[in-house]
Amino acid sequence: MTGTPDPRPAAGDVAHRAGAAFESAFGRRPTGRWAAPGRVNLIGEHTDYNDGYVLPFALPLRTVVAAAPQDGRTWTVRSELTDEEVTFGVDEVTGPGRVTGWAAYVAGVVWGLLEAGHPVPGAHLYIASDVPLGAGLSSSAALEAAVLAALVDLGGVHLPDEDRPRLAQRAENAYVGAPTGIMDQSAAIRCRAGHALFLDCRTEAVDHIPFDLAAAGLAILVVDSRAPHRHADGEYAARRATCDRAADLLGVPALREVRVVDLPGALNRLPDDETRSRVRHVVTENQRVLDTVDLLRAGRIREIGPLLTASHASMRDDFEITVPEIDTAVEAALTAGALGARMTGGGFGGCVLALVDADRTETVAAAVTDAYADRGFTAPTHFTALPSPGATRL
Ligand code: GLA
Repeated sequence: MTGTPDPRPAAGDVAHRAGAAFESAFGRRPTGRWAAPGRVNLIGEHTDYNDGYVLPFALPLRTVVAAAPQDGRTWTVRSELTDEEVTFGVDEVTGPGRVTGWAAYVAGVVWGLLEAGHPVPGAHLYIASDVPLGAGLSSSAALEAAVLAALVDLGGVHLPDEDRPRLAQRAENAYVGAPTGIMDQSAAIRCRAGHALFLDCRTEAVDHIPFDLAAAGLAILVVDSRAPHRHADGEYAARRATCDRAADLLGVPALREVRVVDLPGALNRLPDDETRSRVRHVVTENQRVLDTVDLLRAGRIREIGPLLTASHASMRDDFEITVPEIDTAVEAALTAGALGARMTGGGFGGCVLALVDADRTETVAAAVTDAYADRGFTAPTHFTALPSPGATRL
């Protein structure tokens, strides 16, 4: 943690970088630039693939794709993060030999569009991003959403915003091979500035919940734990499998069906402590999302703090997806006066968010830094997060 508010470049810079780099890489001007944000999730973790509720909001950190059509059905992609240029055609996208590495997210979107029967023009694409990789802020969904917006516009495809998250999620699930839910792609595409996105992951209905932190004298401090992701992919898939199995055992299509009042009876019908703990997390977490939304609708932002902290305890004790760095950050933030704090995202590393009085932001951040130093952890970084818009053409 540096003490500076946010060491990353401003959003305008990333748009400029993408356009300028496109011109020097491809020797012509892009047709346009499309941006999509990273996200934090205010509350509702590991509920999306249980058909439940989530409440993410988009960050000002964005991925920008500068793009222009090219002849033939070929896609040539460059990224500022690597010197590599990756070119692929329809055969590589639809055939058995798939595109791998970072370009798979681009190829996956092309694949998703083709598979849904949409025309996709060949294109040159250049990617620049301020969304840090591997920090649990959904850099992959930001990339998918920005590429999707670009290709849809270049191809003149009619694809309403509400249908885009599912296509981007299929790219990630079926092409890249990561079994994620629908939250991150929905946040990257459907969020609005100044609002959190209340999403019902079964119906995909959304409600934009006003989340005016500044008016309440509050801020969301995001701390990047810098903890290395430990077995995150395997553990994520294991949690998902346990939830699916539990729903089968309970005879419901998804754990979303189980309400808090049904929980004692449901737990009695499950075979072991581990399954019971996982189910308890999902069921209580869904209720915490609904309670948070009720408080926000009533303008009682300060009062959501205990729900955030309870969510963290549930992830730590019942879902068992936190790590020592993350728990240390949450405890230090609360001790320093945060109104609530929790890990955000899939777990096993990533970021913590804390609801703080705006004038205490640096005090809380410094307390986390000190606690890290005491434990000998790699120093964390931090920034404050303002709810920002979803994917857009610039
Ligand atoms: C990751 C996944 C999401 C969601 C969260 C946990 O971010 O991509 O779909 O499951 O973890 O809430």
